Amino acid sequence: MAKKRVLITGGAGFLGSHLCDRFIREGYHVIAMDNLITGDLENIEHLFKLPDFEFYHHDVSKFVHVPGELDYILHFASPASPIDYLKIPIQTLKVGSLGTHNLLGLAKAKRARMLIASTSEVYGDPLVHPQREDYWGNVNPVGPRGCYDEAKRFQEAMTMAYHMHHGLETRIVRIFNTYGPRMRLDDGRVLPAFLSQALRREPLSIFGDGSQTRSFCYVDDLVEGIYRLLLSDYHLPVNIGNPSEITIREFAEEICRLTGAELKVEYQPLPKDDPQKRQPDISKAREILGWEPRVDRAEGLKRTLEYFRDKVQVPDRQEA
Ligand SMILES: NC(=O)c1ccc[n+]([C@@H]2O[C@H](COP(=O)([O-])OP(=O)(O)OC[C@H]3O[C@@H](n4cnc5c(N)ncnc54)[C@H](O)[C@@H]3O)[C@@H](O)[C@H]2O)c1
Repeated sequence: MAKKRVLITGGAGFLGSHLCDRFIREGYHVIAMDNLITGDLENIEHLFKLPDFEFYHHDVSKFVHVPGELDYILHFASPASPIDYLKIPIQTLKVGSLGTHNLLGLAKAKRARMLIASTSEVYGDPLVHPQREDYWGNVNPVGPRGCYDEAKRFQEAMTMAYHMHHGLETRIVRIFNTYGPRMRLDDGRVLPAFLSQALRREPLSIFGDGSQTRSFCYVDDLVEGIYRLLLSDYHLPVNIGNPSEITIREFAEEICRLTGAELKVEYQPLPKDDPQKRQPDISKAREILGWEPRVDRAEGLKRTLEYFRDKVQVPDRQEA
């Protein structure tokens, strides 16, 4: 029997590359598409020798053509960290809107099922805690994060329109902060920033007073949730994330204990519209997908640290 064929946009990025690995392991033919604006071929170079892996260097905001059949499309292309989307806000809006439209058109033409990577950012700075899927969010459309948050909200609306109007099979995953190997050290997110600062024995940068919370999900757990959602028959949004919530200040302490660094912090002003609280309500994922996270933060951070140790230049005398 011919192998099922899956297109993964953003396939050279952090999450996309882990998805490529998973679908290859599951016996699919994988086509990764990426314009490398924030991704890196190093994340997928181990797959290039495989006959069931193809890579297309392409911007999905432009017309997308893929020869042959497709069973699934996973749309993960988009700058994802504030440092990236603040630098390229227009490309961010385009990939969420035009890119999503192009891929929905492709899915319709190929009769493929399409899953989109949405985000906890659709809840903005939430007034409801923890966040359930039926909460509509508190987003500032004209603030600095608007380009990302609104692109993702539009992406969800466009996907639902294709589902309702064309009967397209669609899935929407709302991803909460995820971490693991292949995150970029300089992507500005708190976890790589803290780990690299601690490994270099530099003070950890805390924005605001550190009382804001985040919930971190290990990448393997996220990939498992996405895989189950794709194969499920549920088309409304599903939160995937780890509900274990921690303040940024406590997280700084945890990272220092893990790396053996002395706790030194440097407080900096809180960026505009930075969410105060983040915690997914995962009742739906539990109920519909039988999914919940398995890797706790202690284990996930240990695995991530292994990866970061090789990447961070640590002076000999400061070896962690
Ligand atoms: N990492 C998280 O915690 C998180 C949380 C919520 C949502 N997401 C979503 O998951 C997806 C992947 O995020 P990530 O953390 O892997 O980010 P990433 O930056 O590592 O990966 C994104 C990939 O998309 C590619 N890309 C961007 N614009 C493109 C375009 N126009 N055409 C083709 N490729 C393009 C980039 O080059 C990169 O390889 C994004 O859609 C993001 O919004 C991620």
